[in-house]
Amino acid sequence: MPREHTPCRTYERDTCTLSPFCQLESLNPGGSIKDRPALEILRRSIEEGQIGKDTVIVEATSGNMGIGLAQICCRLGLRFICITDKNISAQNLQLLRAYGAEVEVVTEADPANGDLLQTRIARAQEIARRLRNSFWVNQYANIYNARAHHQTMLEILDQLDGKLDFLFCAASSCGTVRGCAEYLRLNGFGSTKIYVADAYGSVIFGGKRGKRQIQGHGAGIKPRLFARGLVHKSIKVSDLECVIGCRRLLAAEALLVGGSSGATLMAVEHAKNDIPDDANCVMIFPDRGERYLETVFCDDWVREHLGCSASDLESHKRSFGMSSGCVKAAANCKAAPLHDSASK
Ligand SMILES: Cc1ncc(COP(=O)(O)O)c(C=O)c1O
Repeated sequence: MPREHTPCRTYERDTCTLSPFCQLESLNPGGSIKDRPALEILRRSIEEGQIGKDTVIVEATSGNMGIGLAQICCRLGLRFICITDKNISAQNLQLLRAYGAEVEVVTEADPANGDLLQTRIARAQEIARRLRNSFWVNQYANIYNARAHHQTMLEILDQLDGKLDFLFCAASSCGTVRGCAEYLRLNGFGSTKIYVADAYGSVIFGGKRGKRQIQGHGAGIKPRLFARGLVHKSIKVSDLECVIGCRRLLAAEALLVGGSSGATLMAVEHAKNDIPDDANCVMIFPDRGERYLETVFCDDWVREHLGCSASDLESHKRSFGMSSGCVKAAANCKAAPLHDSASK
C-alpha cells in the first residue's frame, strides 16, 4: 500500500517564540499512528513466511493497534482475534467489529498485580497456542513495531529539511520512541534530543504501577522494546494534565486530538526551559479526539474519574497562558495547513 507523508504542521505557543510542529498521525487510514506497526509487522511476517492466507492473527489490545490490525486483516482477508478488556470504549469495540475482528473481552485483572494488560496478553498467548495456524503479533516485543517508525522519523525529517532539535512523544509499547530514536542514531542525527511523556502509574521509566486512564499513555509492564539509553528525558504527566493539554489544543488551535497528544503537549510545557527559542521541536500526535468524546472531552467523565469540575478545568487550561494562535500557526505552516489541503 503506497503512502503519503502524514503532515507535520506548526502549533503556536503564545508564551514564547518557540513554535513546535505537530506530526498528525490521525491521518493514517485507520485513524492512528498504530496503522504503521500493524502494517509493518504483518507485511514483514508475510514476507518471512510466518503468515499465510489461513493464518489467524491474534493480539491483545484495547485500542488503536487493534483497529490498525483489524483494518489490514480485513484488507488481506485474514481472520483476526482481538483480546481486549472491559475498559475498551464502546466506539473502539464497534470499530473493531465493523472491520470484521473477532473480539474477546477480558474482565479479570491479573491477581498478582491487578493489571488487565497482563490478563489480556496471557489470554492472547493461550489462544495463539491453542490454534493450529496462528500468529501472535506481540506488539510489546515485536521489533517490527519499532522499525515501522523509522519511516515516521524519515517523514518528519523530510518535512523539516533534516533540522530537528527535539522530538516529543508518548510511550506505551515503546515502538514509536525506539523506532524514531534508532532512525536518528543510524542516520547521523545524534544531536536530536528525545523527550518522552510518561504516565503516573506507568512503570516504563520506573515508579510504582498504578491506575492509568488515558489510552496509549504509559504501560503497566516494562515493554521488551524499551531501551533507556535512547531517551534523553522522561517527563511524568498526569491524566488530568492530558485532558488539560487536549482541551487547550482544541481551544487554541481547533485541533481535536487524543489524550496522549495532550500528554505530549504538556511534556513540552514542563520542558520548555530546556528548549531554545529557535529550536525545531516536533510533538507526535498519535490520534484524533473523536475516540475520546466520552472521556477526555466529556466534563462528567473528567469530574467522575479525575475529580476535576468543568470550571476548575477551565481555569487550569487558562493558567497555561493560552490564547488564539491559529492564524499565526497557519501562516507559519511548513506543510499545508489541514483546512487548506482539505479544500483543494
Ligand atoms: C493514542 C496512543 N498514543 C500513544 C501510543 C504509544 O505508542 P507506542 O505503543 O508506539 O509506544 C499509543 C499506542 O497504542 C496510542 O494508541
